[in-house]
Amino acid sequence: MARIMILTGAGISAESGLGTFRDKDGLWTKYRLEDVATPQGFRRNPAQVHAFYNARRANCAAAAPNAAHVALARLEATLPGQVLLVTQNVDDLHQRAGSQNVLQMHGALMRATCHTCRHTWPAPAEMQPTDPCPACARKATRPDVVWFGEMPYHMDAIAEAVERVEIFAAIGTSGQVWPAAGFAAAARRAGAHCVELNMERSEISEEFNEHRLGPASSIVPEWVQDILNASR
Ligand code: APR
Repeated sequence: MARIMILTGAGISAESGLGTFRDKDGLWTKYRLEDVATPQGFRRNPAQVHAFYNARRANCAAAAPNAAHVALARLEATLPGQVLLVTQNVDDLHQRAGSQNVLQMHGALMRATCHTCRHTWPAPAEMQPTDPCPACARKATRPDVVWFGEMPYHMDAIAEAVERVEIFAAIGTSGQVWPAAGFAAAARRAGAHCVELNMERSEISEEFNEHRLGPASSIVPEWVQDILNASR
């Protein structure tokens, strides 16, 4: 059972060049969330949704993990079995940095799924509305990303971990989207030490015992080293 649970958001990938959502020039300042991140938007205009995720998939493929992603992979490798990484991000930078035990609660940009039969497969670089599902052949393929109004993945495993971890760390998330926004309060109620690592205070800062402010690429490696020193 993991001793340390880490929740990451778009802020951990910001220094890898991937946009966040709610910062001053974030993705939701350029696109209407209702058009590209809801099932209704997909039904209305699947080509627009595919274009949005094709562009993000290309950005992600061209990006590299930064020192924060690498530090979390080092933490997991040094404390085998003790670290659970839950991410709201759909990029694959944690995996490319070497993290193994990763729960992508909002799905994965590099995976595709069928809106009808839910079969999943590695996403091609460019997806089109006319792509047939490899399993059922219906033209209902979509990025395997969880949209607003849909149930996030791995919620049972996350709910169990939140009640039992000793340390809960949130990195680079504004704490504005549920259910992830509620994890810190639940972990704190269950007795965990909660630490927030972010560029600035967030909507949920008061839920945390400890705050480390600054860019993830510097504050996350420092925090990981402190955890490893304390684990000796
Ligand atoms: N280092 C650390 N934190 C940073 C950095 C950085 N270099 N740059 C930005 N941040 C912080 C911002 O201060 C903000 O608190 O990252 C956070 C990004 O917040 P959001 O853009 O709201 O991203 P996130 O919290 O991941 O959004 C949650 O909303 O739209 C949905 O599904 C989408 O998973 C996403 C969810």
